[in-house]
This record gives sequence, structure tokens and C-alpha cells, in this order.
Amino acid sequence: MNFLHLDKVSSTNDYLKERYKSLPNWTILTTDYQTDGRGRLDHKWKSNKGDNLLCSFLIKDKNILKNHECLVTLVGVSVYKLLVQLGLKDVKIKRPNDIYVSGHKICGILLESISIGANIEALVIGVGLNVNQKSFPNDLNATSYYQVMNKEIGLKEILSMFINILLEELKKIKPHYNEVLLKQYDEVIINKSGYLPLE
Ligand code: BTN
Repeated sequence: MNFLHLDKVSSTNDYLKERYKSLPNWTILTTDYQTDGRGRLDHKWKSNKGDNLLCSFLIKDKNILKNHECLVTLVGVSVYKLLVQLGLKDVKIKRPNDIYVSGHKICGILLESISIGANIEALVIGVGLNVNQKSFPNDLNATSYYQVMNKEIGLKEILSMFINILLEELKKIKPHYNEVLLKQYDEVIINKSGYLPLE
């Protein structure tokens, strides 16, 4: 794995997308602060400096590119498993890209593809997980690990746990795996229907 950290960047997804040709497969970029963090559908992703996990993964692995249709679900399941492992209760995966705890959003996932014609060259998985942020005055719908557990946790620790879980999940990838995941996690997935295209 190729770990990169920037104190500040416009968006970790954009940084990897702009450099996907020269950067190696499995480049992981983290940052303390994004000046133009993005969510789906042109939403902004705002996060206090140094409080939260803001990371993106560049993936060029052929097997993953070939079976990408399960990736949104698989990343959601990985975040779900991470939060359960950390002791959080009432965790739900709200497809396509949100993770909720007791009805409040704790994590957003932005999965983007880089294609030439019909050919997917690379994927960028962006994860914004609210970890140590104490309050969200501009977003009453949001929550964080700190708000739920009433304690802080190191961002490096949480990233390393997440990478381990994600790698284990990615080993299971195979054709039609999305249906398997949707069945397996039926009870914790909200909004199961339909194929979800990449951004
Ligand atoms: C959403 O809720 O719509 C998805 C939010 C994804 C936010 C993360 S933060 C790291 C990465 N870089 C971005 O610009 N967005 C994703």
C-alpha cells in the first residue's frame, strides 16, 4: 500500500482522480482538511480540521474493477463492521452511500470511477467518517463517534482497523456478490432496491 497524507487538499477523491495514472494501485490518501470536500449529487462534505477521517483509496486491481457493481455495498458493509467492532449500536447502511447511527448520519461514501470509453481504468473510494468532532451546528442530522460514545479515538487507529476490514471484505469479491451482500445484511440495509451506478 502507498500511504499519502496531506495537511490540506481540495478533495482527497479529486487528488487521486487527477493523478490516477502515475499513482500506484492501492494508494491511500488522508488529509486533515478539505477545502472542497464533495458528497454525491453535488453536496458539500464539511468537516472540522483534524477531527475526522477523510480518506480516499485508489484502486486499479483488475478483479475489483471487473466486479465493481458490489463495491458501494461492500464499502458500506465494511464501515458498518468497523462501527460495530468499535461498540456502536443501531448502525444502519442507507444505500447508496450513507451510514447512520440511531437515525443520524455518521459516514458518507463517495465511489467514483475513471473511465475511458466503456472501460473503467480506476476507482476512487472516498470515505468521510465523523470521528472526534464534538458538534455539528450546521447539520442537525449528523453525528460522530465522539457524540455517540462520549470519548475520542485516534484517527490512525480507526483507519488501520478500517483498512483491515476492507481488505478482508474485498477478498470475497466475485460476480453477483452484490445480491449476496444485500441478502446477508438485509436487516441493517435501508433502501435495498435497484442497481446503483457509479458516479
Ligand atoms: C456523501 O455523503 O454524499 C458522500 C460524502 C463523502 C465524503 C468523503 S470525505 C473524503 C472523500 N473526499 C471527498 O471529497 N469526498 C469523500
